[in-house]
Amino acid sequence: MQINCTINCTINGKPYTRQIEPDLLLIDFLRELGFLSLKQGCDTTNCGLCTVWVDGTPRLSCAILTAGLQDRQITTIEGQEKEAAAFGQFLADEGADQCGFCSPGFIMTVLAMEKELNNPSEEDIKQYLSGNLCRCTGYVSQMRAINKYLKVTSQDHIQDKEREGDPR
Ligand code: FES
Ligand code: FES
Repeated sequence: MQINCTINCTINGKPYTRQIEPDLLLIDFLRELGFLSLKQGCDTTNCGLCTVWVDGTPRLSCAILTAGLQDRQITTIEGQEKEAAAFGQFLADEGADQCGFCSPGFIMTVLAMEKELNNPSEEDIKQYLSGNLCRCTGYVSQMRAINKYLKVTSQDHIQDKEREGDPR
């Protein structure tokens, strides 16, 4: 007989307390709670479709036991709606939104990369995204979308900094 345990964690800024089985994977926990953006594209931790953030870092939710996430902050794409929509528009403009099955995990990885890497090179971007597979696009249109998106967001950051330094 399995003994359930109690998990306390935060998902998209909201606290959750649940009784869970000790071997419950994070992807199943989140989908049971209604975060249906999460997709499972493999059984081998290779596709990246199930990517969420744990304490702001992208992680594969199919490879993490929920029981180990006591008091951690979990973020799914539902918690990054505005940012995801902004980048999603770049994907759409470049024709990179085909079946869309890989998009939630891919977008979460791109948004994490944007926060983590400063002015990444093409190689840095490819390296960061190497765990996110897409069966439709061939990656060229995705790379175009990322480059355009990063250009716009870095300009926004510069303008924010200028505004912060503006004494008016
Ligand atoms: S479902 Fe493929 S890496 Fe998680
Ligand atoms: S758009 Fe179809 S798998 Fe990526």
